[in-house]
Amino acid sequence: MNSKRLFINTIGCQMNVYDSESIARVLHPMGFEKTSSLAAADMVIINTCAIRGKAEQKAFSFLGRLAGLKREKPGLIIGVGGCVAQQEGRRILGRMPHINFVFGTQAIIRLPDIVNRIVKDGERIVDIDMLDQVPELDFPEAFEDTNLSEISKFVTIMRGCDNYCAYCVVPYVRGRENSRHPESIIKEIEGLAESGVKEVTLLGQNVNSYGLKEGLCSFSELLAQVNDIKGLKRIRFTTSHPKDLSEELIYAFRNFDKLCKHIHLPVQSGSNRILKLMNRKYTREQYLEKTDKLRIACPEIAITSDIIVGFPGERQQDFEDTLDLIKSIRYDSLYAFKYSDRPNAPAVRLPEKISESEKKNRLEQVLRLQKDITIEKNQVLIDSAQVVLVDGLSKKSRDSEIRQWSGRTATNKIVNFTCYNHDLDPGEGLIGELIRVRIDEVLPNSLCGRRSRTSTLHSAKGEN
Ligand code: 5AD
Ligand code: SF4
Repeated sequence: MNSKRLFINTIGCQMNVYDSESIARVLHPMGFEKTSSLAAADMVIINTCAIRGKAEQKAFSFLGRLAGLKREKPGLIIGVGGCVAQQEGRRILGRMPHINFVFGTQAIIRLPDIVNRIVKDGERIVDIDMLDQVPELDFPEAFEDTNLSEISKFVTIMRGCDNYCAYCVVPYVRGRENSRHPESIIKEIEGLAESGVKEVTLLGQNVNSYGLKEGLCSFSELLAQVNDIKGLKRIRFTTSHPKDLSEELIYAFRNFDKLCKHIHLPVQSGSNRILKLMNRKYTREQYLEKTDKLRIACPEIAITSDIIVGFPGERQQDFEDTLDLIKSIRYDSLYAFKYSDRPNAPAVRLPEKISESEKKNRLEQVLRLQKDITIEKNQVLIDSAQVVLVDGLSKKSRDSEIRQWSGRTATNKIVNFTCYNHDLDPGEGLIGELIRVRIDEVLPNSLCGRRSRTSTLHSAKGEN
């Protein structure tokens, strides 16, 4: 079989990263090998994100640029997948004559058939069918992808969302919530661990409700099984909906040694009035109670969050409630976004839209406040020894003589470090190891340090 080159451009969340790998896997048996060179590609696929207007514009501007490439190379096949594909469907083909196919978030399994039809008949195809029950996309056989040498991987454990937050497009573009069978998840992670992966991040829009609808096991029970997988050193998960955060999961942070002490618990707003308009189904007080419980059960836990500023109707007092909540929780870090109208999401119809300049102003205030908190919290770590899972050379090392390594703490803080002397720098051998690093500097987005003289932590178990 002739080898053909596939270029994939992934925009958006970790689930899209996982989906892009699935795209590469299903097309591999047809002779497609991944390339990082757009100019060398025989097929280009863009995996799109629809969460905010900006992400959608990014996809269309990339697609626009491909028109020139297609003129130079008429045989080039161009496909659009992901959330914008699901949302826009056939309109994309109408708008852009150089696109060959559009496939939705549940169509990855049918890609071989779609691509065959294009190659054979030159058809232009749209496949955005969505079902309430998604067929499992399992990969029993090993996949010879260079990516498998990576030490940290994403594993999607559920798809879709049933929560219908008023601002959010996800339920409309990813469909109903569906949990994968635990057996198939465990098999996949065992395979990853055997090929050298040390850390997995379990993905779902709301992992806290894993398995409930289907009567599978609970999320904590799934974590217990993942915790037992040999060779795996760390487990992470994202995202948790505060309304579904159970006591069982809170105690999981204490009970499972490989589970990293970090929870991403998006609050979105600190105002009860706005939380209600957002259809989040919890109050500020309930959220604070849960974060208190988390810190009682696990005092070292890092808590991070998402905030939306400028949701329709957000008045000055509501915004101040959000700032006040950030001050009282003191997140380790947070992602803040300007509210963006999405065509399918109900908030598009809400009155009292906030001006772009006011949203920008509120966003800056949130970011400034959080930056100070992050630095203050990280400063406490100076002179402490932190356990880090090394994932490679630091960005700085890639273009300088200094050998500086990079990794993350269990609390998900990036640590860049050097070794005291040459003997402590075994080069590539450090990658995938849990080691102790003494912190001596705090930057806004990372910590810097030196590898402690103590040896590598050899335990196959987690370090928490
Ligand atoms: N506008 C702005 N931010 C949004 N998010 C989701 N939908 C929107 C929107 N329409 C944010 C939420 C969510 C994160 C993934 O993206 O904060 O948690
Ligand atoms: Fe969107 Fe809300 Fe579902 Fe998260 S829980 S994906 S914000 S609808």
